[in-house]
Amino acid sequence: MKKTLTAILPGILLCALLAPPAFAQTSVVEDTPLIRQLRNAQADYALNQAAVRQGAKLATFCANCHGDNGNSTHPDTPNLAGQNPIYLLGQTLKFADGRRRYEWMEGLIKAMKPQEIIASAMFYARQPVTTKISPAGAALVAQGKVYYEKVCFRCHGPDGRGSETYARLAGQQESYVTLTLHRYRDGTGERTAPEMTTSTKLMNDEDIRAVAAYIASMK
Ligand code: HEC
Ligand code: HEC
Repeated sequence: MKKTLTAILPGILLCALLAPPAFAQTSVVEDTPLIRQLRNAQADYALNQAAVRQGAKLATFCANCHGDNGNSTHPDTPNLAGQNPIYLLGQTLKFADGRRRYEWMEGLIKAMKPQEIIASAMFYARQPVTTKISPAGAALVAQGKVYYEKVCFRCHGPDGRGSETYARLAGQQESYVTLTLHRYRDGTGERTAPEMTTSTKLMNDEDIRAVAAYIASMK
């Protein structure tokens, strides 16, 4: 018997209700020569290996702040380990043209050759993240998890692993995340991204502390 639309419609609606909420991970990465060069290196085994080796050498310099293998030991300096290489490259381009402000990194990027920037991004993307235990306490972490799963997961993913356009958050430095969320919310000028201005607009200071504690504890 042929089913009519009215007969199957309730089923379709139920499926839509039960389906997991969709991600908003659709934003497209800007197509710059550097991004193209990175994608070429990713696609070629020999280029890939050479870039990771070069990135490892450069990392001895970055380690002063970003820690061994990109697991930072300075509270306000981000981990680079485990980030998507395209995301890292995208942030470097933002430092280079002043869309992201931090004097030291702006100067450093100008002193680096394009191939070195690509090699660093490819090296750090491969490094495992060492998650630290948040000193904030289990109750605040649990509160942060609820908030994260309401708002942040849509772009950063349920497990906080990020993508080419959205930062990996899992295991990120608690203090750095707190500082960064305040900057987006308060429009202090160091970071600008319309997605994050919108996402932090309704956060109070406690929401920020809770979410940062949860993020730091995510594996
Ligand atoms: C003197 C300390 C210092 C050194 C050395 C340093 N960085 Fe940084 N870097 C920072 C700080 C601090 C930030 C965060 C800036 C902010 O608050 O936005 C940062 C941010 C970054 C980011 C953005 C990360 C994110 O999660 O958005 C990238 C990528 C980066 N650095 C790459 C490098 C590389 C590659 C090197 C070595 C070639 C390096 N940095 C050396 C201090 C340093
Ligand atoms: C609509 C998509 C979207 C949502 C929802 C969203 N973010 Fe983001 N987030 C982004 C984008 C895009 C960036 C990169 C922004 C930039 O270039 O500065 C980012 C960057 C960040 C960063 C900086 C990471 C780094 O390594 O420097 C943090 C921290 C962050 N988001 C936390 C959150 C938290 C916490 C929530 C939930 C309250 C959230 N985000 C919700 C899109 C989103």
